[in-house]
This record gives sequence, C-alpha cells and structure tokens, in this order.
Amino acid sequence: MASSLDIAGINKRFGKGDKSVEVLRKVDIHVAPGEFLILVGPSGCGKSTLLNIIAGLDEPTEGEIRIGGKNVVGMPPRDRDIAMVFQSYALYPTLSVADNIGFALEMRKMPKPERQKRIDEVAAMLQISHLLDRRPSQLSGGQRQRVAMGRALARQPQLFLFDEPLSNLDAKLRVEMRAEIKRLHQASGITSVYVTHDQVEAMTLGSRIAVMKGGVVQQLGTPDDIYNRPANTYVATFIGSPTMNLLRGAASGGQFGIQGAALNLAPPSGTPNSASEVLLGVRPEHLVMQDSAPWRGKVSVVEPTGPDTYVMVDTAAGTVTLRTDAQTRVQPGDAVGLAVEPANAHWFDASSENRLA
Ligand SMILES: Nc1ncnc2c1ncn2[C@@H]1O[C@H](COP(=O)(O)OP(=O)(O)O)[C@@H](O)[C@H]1O
Ligand SMILES: [Mg+2]
Repeated sequence: MASSLDIAGINKRFGKGDKSVEVLRKVDIHVAPGEFLILVGPSGCGKSTLLNIIAGLDEPTEGEIRIGGKNVVGMPPRDRDIAMVFQSYALYPTLSVADNIGFALEMRKMPKPERQKRIDEVAAMLQISHLLDRRPSQLSGGQRQRVAMGRALARQPQLFLFDEPLSNLDAKLRVEMRAEIKRLHQASGITSVYVTHDQVEAMTLGSRIAVMKGGVVQQLGTPDDIYNRPANTYVATFIGSPTMNLLRGAASGGQFGIQGAALNLAPPSGTPNSASEVLLGVRPEHLVMQDSAPWRGKVSVVEPTGPDTYVMVDTAAGTVTLRTDAQTRVQPGDAVGLAVEPANAHWFDASSENRLA
C-alpha cells in the first residue's frame, strides 16, 4: 500500500540569530501515493537538507512532513518506515550480499525462512541472485549500487528516498541503472523522492519534477510542463541541452525587435506595456536557418554529436545555438538567416524573468 507524502510549509535555517542561514524557504509539495517525484537543482540548493528532513535525520525550523496524512516531525527516523539510498553505498564490508540485503530484516527479528524468501525475491528483481555469497569488495560499482538498492527494497518501506544514487557511476552504467530504477519503481509502486543535479535524469525518471534554486521551488510540474512551459528563465535554461537561447528586445506595432532585426513575432497580448522590454526564449531545436529571414548572422562553430549537429551563429543580438540534423552542410564563416515559428516562442518579463502568459 503506497503512502502519500506532504511537504507542508517547510522552512529550514542553520545556525542562530545574525549568523543563521536560510536553506529552505516555504517548500510545499504534495506527493501522491505511488508517485516518483524528482527534486532537481544545482549543488547547494537544499536538496539533501529536504530529503534529510523527510527521513528524520534533520528537523525543519517550520512546517510539517506528513506521511499517509500523519505528521512525523519529531518522530525518530527508524519509526518513519522510510528507506534511503545514497551516493555512497555504505555496505557492511564483512557481510555477504545476502546478509547486507537482509540486515534490516534480521534487526526486525523477521524469521529466517521469510527473510530468505524476501532476499531471494529482491535479488531476482535486481538480477544479482548469482552474487548473494560474495562480499562487497568482490563487486563492481554498479553491482554495489544494486545491493544498496536491494537492501532498501527488502524492507518494503512506505517511502523511498534517493540522494543522487548514480553520481558515482560511469556514464554508461548510469544510463543502465536509470532504466533499472524506473522499472523497479513501476514494479514496486512505492512512493519515491529522488534527488539529482542532473537534468536528464530528472526528465527521464520523474512523473513530476520540482526544480529548486536557493532553497526555493521554482516550478513543480510534469516533464512536459517543465520543458514546454517553463515558469521562469531559470527553469528554462536549467532544463534542456544545449540551453535555451534568450534574446532581449522590445515589441512595437505587433512586431518584436531585437538588436539588428525585426522578427515576425509578437509577445502575448496583455503584456504589461507592449513597448517595454521582454525576453524571447527559443530552444536550439526551434531555431531554423532560412535564407530569406531578416535576422542575419554568421556561423562561428559547427559541432557534430552523431544524431544532431549543433551550430553556433553570431548575430547582432548575441550568439545563438541551433540544433540541426547530422546532414547539415554549413561551415564556419557562412552567412545565414534565422527564423522562429510563433508557436515555439517562449516569452519572459525582462525584469522579473517570469513567464508571460
Ligand atoms: N549542518 C549545516 N550547517 C550549516 N549549513 C549547512 C548544513 N548543512 C547544509 N548546509 C548548507 O545548506 C545548503 C544546502 O545544502 P544541501 O542540502 O546539502 O544542498 P544540495 O544537496 O542541494 O547540494 C548549502 O549551502 C550548505 O552549505
Ligand atoms: Mg546533496
């Protein structure tokens, strides 16, 4: 039975008085039973602090953590029925894989036959049945991470917390384990909160994503919301690679002008003061080369990546990046025209940097 999780009005300060620092501010997130929620943001934005508060390893300065509707603030971690997987696996070096997986069950005095059955099920799910007799030192990094996950799964907790569990793995293994975690979540249905600084992991794993910066949730939404309707320029440029192009300009007579060109685009009507400055955001895949376009530039760099080629173009309004297909034949020095479909334009207020409706 999956539980809901409510992170309600969480504030966190470290230290006292003048020297105190605010690390989390007014964090409100409802996680539905069985949901896989991602917390993503740069290093130092408060992700681990929030996870530790959920687990009971730290207490909030203000707010409530409710698991299945019950406030658990003040309750010791061992009574919260939560399993946590960290970046470092912290396996018991002298115990076998089987005993590592079954350790918490033994502490709980689960009878041996039942414990053995649980260990076997979890090992089969993680495809490590053939490793049960080994010691952690006889395993690869990826295998150790599987054991750490098995130890958490075996407990069948109400809540799963992951703190950057894949950061220590090499790129190929990270992609494999990412798919594995997704599969395990689908099979177990346990409510999960997963912390990462990696925007690709966030987009591929989460049913919803909370993008954080400086202890404040910038946007909470589905991967589609976050990518296609970013709430502000921070979210817009944090998610997506190469990053979204941002161009400063002003609208007059229904046309948006940037340095050196008028584009056939208009910011949304109802924009505060149509002549005021706005920011146009365009993802690299939505910027196209068009011979007749009035916005001109010169190709500076061409980067083939295999499936796509990235093209950097210097224009009077700044350097922009395009994602084009591998067949692109442009070369550095070529003069090109650039165009954007109105449906692909993102508009932001130039001072608040918030999305314009
Ligand atoms: N015990 C502590 N005392 C003071 N500051 C702390 C403590 N723990 C974390 N911080 C600060 O809180 C901020 C958030 O840290 P953390 O939650 O670990 O970020 P993240 O996991 O997103 O990288 C950082 O600026 C960090 O220096
Ligand atoms: Mg952290």
